[in-house]
Amino acid sequence: MENPKVSRRIFMLTSGGGAAALATSSLTPAHAAQPVAQLAPGATTLKYPRRAVGKASAMPVNQAVSFSYPDASSPCYAIRMGTPVPGGVGPNKDIVAYSGMCTHMGCPVAYDPGTRTFKCGCHFSVFDPENSGQMVCGQATEDLPQVLLEYDARSDSLQAVAINGLLYGRQSNVL
Ligand code: FES
Repeated sequence: MENPKVSRRIFMLTSGGGAAALATSSLTPAHAAQPVAQLAPGATTLKYPRRAVGKASAMPVNQAVSFSYPDASSPCYAIRMGTPVPGGVGPNKDIVAYSGMCTHMGCPVAYDPGTRTFKCGCHFSVFDPENSGQMVCGQATEDLPQVLLEYDARSDSLQAVAINGLLYGRQSNVL
């Protein structure tokens, strides 16, 4: 049986776009017929970028600090929880970061210092930043993606280096 996965290249070659691509490229049909390496579903071809988030000592306790990661269209929040938490970095292992987009339908989430949770105003999903972004209640079925941070004690700087979980609306976080 034929492999159901169709790579972008194979799709282009067997669709109208393929004729246009061949007409403007130096590919010959013999080259085009050679097998094409395929990525596993969800795999990416680019590494996550490193992005500065800020100084750990400058972060207020129990307040969300906004930044973007892995690109400008992906809002995120970093929070210094005040007590050590899973995945926390910094001198007290209490700084974590999450996507600012709800996993249900992509609405913005807001941090509520009173309950120490992220809340989505669209359909009232709640996520727990002290437990790896765990979905607590609401319409969402996935946890809030956690931005993985690294901390450099010499410079007191925080850097975003990857994401654990799929950002809403994407097939992969980096393409
Ligand atoms: S978009 Fe957040 S709960 Fe629906």
